[in-house]
Amino acid sequence: MRKLFIAGNWKMNKGIKETGIFFNRLFELIDNYDSIDVAIAPPFTSLPEAVKMCREKKVLIGAQNMYFEEEGAFTGEISPLFLKELNVDFVILGHSERRHIFNESNELISKKVKTALKHDLTPVLCVGETLKEREDEKTETVLKEQMDSAFNDISPDDAKKVIIAYEPVWAIGTGKTATPEIAGDAHFFIRKRIKELYNSIVAEEIRIVYGGSVKPENAKALLDVKDIDGALIGGASLSADSFAKIINIGMEV
Ligand code: 13P
Repeated sequence: MRKLFIAGNWKMNKGIKETGIFFNRLFELIDNYDSIDVAIAPPFTSLPEAVKMCREKKVLIGAQNMYFEEEGAFTGEISPLFLKELNVDFVILGHSERRHIFNESNELISKKVKTALKHDLTPVLCVGETLKEREDEKTETVLKEQMDSAFNDISPDDAKKVIIAYEPVWAIGTGKTATPEIAGDAHFFIRKRIKELYNSIVAEEIRIVYGGSVKPENAKALLDVKDIDGALIGGASLSADSFAKIINIGMEV
């Protein structure tokens, strides 16, 4: 049985003060959520506040990115050691905004995945096709390239620890959600590729979550799909009320 992973990616939103306000409200709205993993990835500067507020609440806290080197002349970058020092649990890697706005390559993301695993930070590896790639029927080719690169040289035991987020680029921040059928097909393909790269045990254990315009209104239909093990939520995670609604839906599916 795979535990659902319901995570908010705040992107470049919420400083320290707003982080405090969010968690105070969230903990008024959710309780007894041990059956699922609840997680938030705030901006770097809000991480200490988020970790502090969630210490006794079993909400996982993650970073939205990091560099693959541990220290040195890399102006503006964040080391995995700094994240460990803050007791961060996971790190989002290869988000489509990192790939497309900041030109991160599969090769760079692959190095980051290895570094995260080395430091016991759970990688949340984002994969997904653009609208053009989908229209050109290249979805599976793109997903395969992104996955094969990210899992290159990763042992089966480490592979199981990765959480894959399928985030079709055309569904991010557009209000256009993938239908449960489209998302289900992509998740099925991703799990099948993991089975080919490793074996059926890794494929059964690895968690694959969906991201792209997830809201309280569409969460149940998506989370009901067999191969969908949770959600990575952008816009709807900025309000504690809507994020709590999705958590409560996750606890019931
Ligand atoms: P939205 O939920 O705002 O579409 O963002 C999805 C996302 O990019 C999560 O990482």
